[in-house]
Amino acid sequence: MVIAVDGPTASGKGTLARRLAAHFGFAYLDTGSLYRAAALRLLRAGGDGADTDAAVAAAQGIGPDDLADPALREEATGNMASRVAALQPVRDALFALQRDFAACPPAGLPGAVLDGRDIGTVVCPDARVKLFVTADVAARARRRHLELTGQGQEVAYETVLRDLKDRDARDSARATAPLARADDAVLIDTTKLDIEAAFSAALEACASRM
Ligand code: C5P
Repeated sequence: MVIAVDGPTASGKGTLARRLAAHFGFAYLDTGSLYRAAALRLLRAGGDGADTDAAVAAAQGIGPDDLADPALREEATGNMASRVAALQPVRDALFALQRDFAACPPAGLPGAVLDGRDIGTVVCPDARVKLFVTADVAARARRRHLELTGQGQEVAYETVLRDLKDRDARDSARATAPLARADDAVLIDTTKLDIEAAFSAALEACASRM
């Protein structure tokens, strides 16, 4: 049983996906953290997003131990992640891990929730439930700005907004596995929903398909 949760940055998809996993007792995989981990390795090796070989080398062998580094959440890492994620060989290098997680969730759990950009379209096109979580860009920038300043990072709202727009454009316009709503995905717009209301909408969508 797989629940696919896709959507743009700071749409609330991660929070929703985590709560759904806890609710159903499923395993959870934040697939963005895989691209972030590859990006972080690349940044630490002094590489840049234009070097495909270096980016693929960084993506190869990413495992659970790489996903706990606090630097994964930094804006520089996220921005580099969206660059390396546009490279098909990088996506190929991270594909099996995601497919295996969905097919055989760890610890024998009965299902998996994966969130990302292409879970419902590419990684798990047969997922039982597909959600596409979005919100308008200003609402997402406000949330991300609050999150970053809450972590003590000093960053201007305008910078966060600009980076978000850039990242949306890169994620949506890329030739390979672009951010897109699957035809059979249920749309949840969180612009005016708090977490509880968004979670209720997600549960309702799950109830109609599980
Ligand atoms: O969701 P998050 O912001 O952590 O993802 C970081 C970047 O990884 C995104 O901007 C996107 O380019 C990429 N990504 C992707 N496919 C996924 C998950 C994330 O291309 N399934």
